[in-house]
Amino acid sequence: MMKSVALSSLAALTFGLMAAPAFASAHADAAAGETAWRSCRACHGITDPAGTVIQRGGRSGPNLFGLPGRAVASAEGFNYSSALEQYAATGAVWTEELFVEYMANPTAFLREKLDDTGVRSPMSFRMRSGAEDMWAYLESVSPDSE
Ligand code: HEC
Repeated sequence: MMKSVALSSLAALTFGLMAAPAFASAHADAAAGETAWRSCRACHGITDPAGTVIQRGGRSGPNLFGLPGRAVASAEGFNYSSALEQYAATGAVWTEELFVEYMANPTAFLREKLDDTGVRSPMSFRMRSGAEDMWAYLESVSPDSE
């Protein structure tokens, strides 16, 4: 279902037709998320456990493979900030809601979750819109996306 919606809106764009904006905002669009990946690639890649590269990217941020449902700050071999690790110690797992909140402002997110105005996220990027689409894209490249 999700895939056919994404494909049909991609097809609409390909043929130069405008996808109705109301429709696009009501349904997360994995294809739009994939397009927006260009904002992440300087710092993140997506590589599955077998080593298959889904998105080549920088290494200053953690591998985002399988993020939906993944424990916070759990990418193997990545040196997370102590603030995010402290939050992860509460047992937090990435849900869409949490992800959307984090993406809007990682520093504000950590300050609120840790109730500490002194912390700052090393992720300087803020995603002002389209985080739902990015979540749909990350789900589409996750192991149990169906
Ligand atoms: C300028 C570099 C940079 C950019 C651009 C960037 N990030 Fe990050 N991201 C980071 C860093 C560094 C961390 C580690 C944060 C920490 O340790 O507190 C991070 C952490 C994350 C996490 C937490 C992962 C986990 O394992 O818990 C998510 C989710 C995330 N980024 C998503 C994204 C997405 C999606 C984009 C693009 C829309 C993006 N980031 C763009 C640098 C970046």
